Amino acid sequence: MNDSTPRRLLLLDHYADGEDARHFSLRIDLPLAADLAVIPGQFFMLSVPGVGEAPFTYVSLPDRSGRFTALIRRMGTLTEALFAQPVGAVLGYRGPFGKGWPLFFSAKRVLVVAGGCGLAPLAGVIDEAISHYLPQRLSLIYGARNADAQVLRRERAEWQQRLPMIETLDEAPVGMRQGSPLQHFGEFFAATPPDAVLCCGPEPLMLATAEACLKRGLSRDKVWLSLERRMHCADGLCGHCYLGPSYVCQDGPTYRYDRFLQLQSRYSARPGLQDHNFC
Ligand SMILES: Cc1cc2nc3c(=O)[nH]c(=O)nc-3n(C[C@H](O)[C@H](O)[C@H](O)COP(=O)(O)OP(=O)(O)OC[C@H]3O[C@@H](n4cnc5c(N)ncnc54)[C@H](O)[C@@H]3O)c2cc1C
Ligand code: FES
Repeated sequence: MNDSTPRRLLLLDHYADGEDARHFSLRIDLPLAADLAVIPGQFFMLSVPGVGEAPFTYVSLPDRSGRFTALIRRMGTLTEALFAQPVGAVLGYRGPFGKGWPLFFSAKRVLVVAGGCGLAPLAGVIDEAISHYLPQRLSLIYGARNADAQVLRRERAEWQQRLPMIETLDEAPVGMRQGSPLQHFGEFFAATPPDAVLCCGPEPLMLATAEACLKRGLSRDKVWLSLERRMHCADGLCGHCYLGPSYVCQDGPTYRYDRFLQLQSRYSARPGLQDHNFC
């Protein structure tokens, strides 16, 4: 179990990165061994003193000095207060929490499908593939509403040079691909059918992606999603984040699709995924 007392987190820098979103550079004061072993897809709890606490995902993972980045969209009280903090502010940190993505691309071809801010929890997987000299095993389809809504501008510019990647916009200017990621799905399946698919984004996109994968012959245990639930303790104590018998803060937020369907079928009170997430 994690200690529930927040540790010191320093706000080092930030820049605008997408509509109402900022890319924050943060540093955990005195990082612990667990902070240096974060797996992409895991999350942390960030608190603004006197305001509150909320879960966020790591974009770049903590280095030895505890420095990492996060892409945060302004939503309500906590993020509003965070956006008002000056560089140098001392915030609170708890984590890491949850289970990350399976990093099995050393042996397989992986297709990453992301929508909107859902690219943030997948950035670590892409960087991990690049740092292991395996970018050819990984392809990316990234969709956003329009150019303003796209996030991780700097990272995408680098990834474009390193791996097969499709960017598509719902409202596309001339010269850019138009439509949802699913409309461009066939290209990667035709060229190099993936052995596994990792998806994060608005819930309808994740469900449609999973079903499209099944139609193309992928089995349910080869598709992974990242769920968003309201979280308070992040430590399996409060029960706010449950999905059937599973606590998303501990067993998730990443779930294999077969497991998700199994949990969902035992959770008839709230069918489907949540109707809200930060993507
Ligand atoms: C595992 C995980 C990882 C996340 N990673 C990121 C990230 O990397 N970047 C990012 O910007 N956000 C992320 N989020 C979402 C972020 O935690 C919420 O947007 C957070 O509530 C913002 O706090 P707030 O006080 O600013 O807004 P709030 O005042 O909490 O929320 C604003 C509005 O959004 C609704 N809302 C917020 N969160 C939820 C929810 N989970 N379910 C239903 N309704 C909700 C509220 O009802 C309200 O209407 C993540 C969430 C989870 C569970
Ligand atoms: S957030 Fe408390 S049990 Fe998951």
